Amino acid sequence: MSFAHYVEITQAAERGKMDAIFFQDSLAANQSSAIGRRDRKRAQYPRCVIIEPLMLLPALAMVTRNIGLIATATTTYDQPYMVARHFASIDHISGGRAGWNLVTTQNEESAGNFGLDHHVAHAERYDRAAEFYDVVVGLWTAGRGCLHSRQGEGVYYDVDKVRLLNHTGRHFKVRGPLNVARSPQGRPVIAQAGSSDVGASSPARPPRSSSPRNSRLPSRRPFATTSRRERRNTDARATT
Ligand SMILES: Cc1cc2nc3c(=O)[nH]c(=O)nc-3n(C[C@H](O)[C@H](O)[C@H](O)COP(=O)(O)O)c2cc1C
Repeated sequence: MSFAHYVEITQAAERGKMDAIFFQDSLAANQSSAIGRRDRKRAQYPRCVIIEPLMLLPALAMVTRNIGLIATATTTYDQPYMVARHFASIDHISGGRAGWNLVTTQNEESAGNFGLDHHVAHAERYDRAAEFYDVVVGLWTAGRGCLHSRQGEGVYYDVDKVRLLNHTGRHFKVRGPLNVARSPQGRPVIAQAGSSDVGASSPARPPRSSSPRNSRLPSRRPFATTSRRERRNTDARATT
């Protein structure tokens, strides 16, 4: 693994006219527990050689021009204010090409790196994800129309117009506003691929028309697996 390899595949994808490239992520080395037990059978080839994708995107933005750049970030072990700043910043750096793959984290071993003995339960992860999504999008959109720039001095919030998010929910309390100016897309593209019933119907699942008008990324297509399953369920109901 080397950064040069990431550059090579991203540039190849761009040459091939791909809309976007996406980088998965996990917050633990696979089979961490087995590594701890020196269980060579279970911990065979534990993958540890990835570059953290949020770090990767700005670097890749510098060596590409058009391709969308999507990084994975978790709603279970991160904070919405940080995720909102990161993707707004990457959107600025890339000229409106940033995308967030919203995950609730698949790898159970992650818990051990964030002060927990067990992975957060599935329903709880999605409950947190829904609120997380609302806070991030709220922070991104609250900055609309309330910035002004002074010649040669920088960009400022218009104190008379700026709206604080003042979010208080079950999982988060976030005042705002975001200290990153509104990004080129305003709302960077969000992808979410949970396929369980709660995952597929999660409020954290962005609406199908969520790609902003000035995005260089395409509109999100319906998740094929879910659509197939929905069709199967509908068919099953129709035949009973
Ligand atoms: C294309 C694709 C990419 C995914 N990438 C990640 C990832 O990088 N990190 C992760 O923790 N989960 C990833 N997942 C897992 C899902 O986001 C989701 O967490 C998982 O399917 C469990 O949710 P569910 O129970 O609703 O299916 C990915 C799933 C798909 C289909």
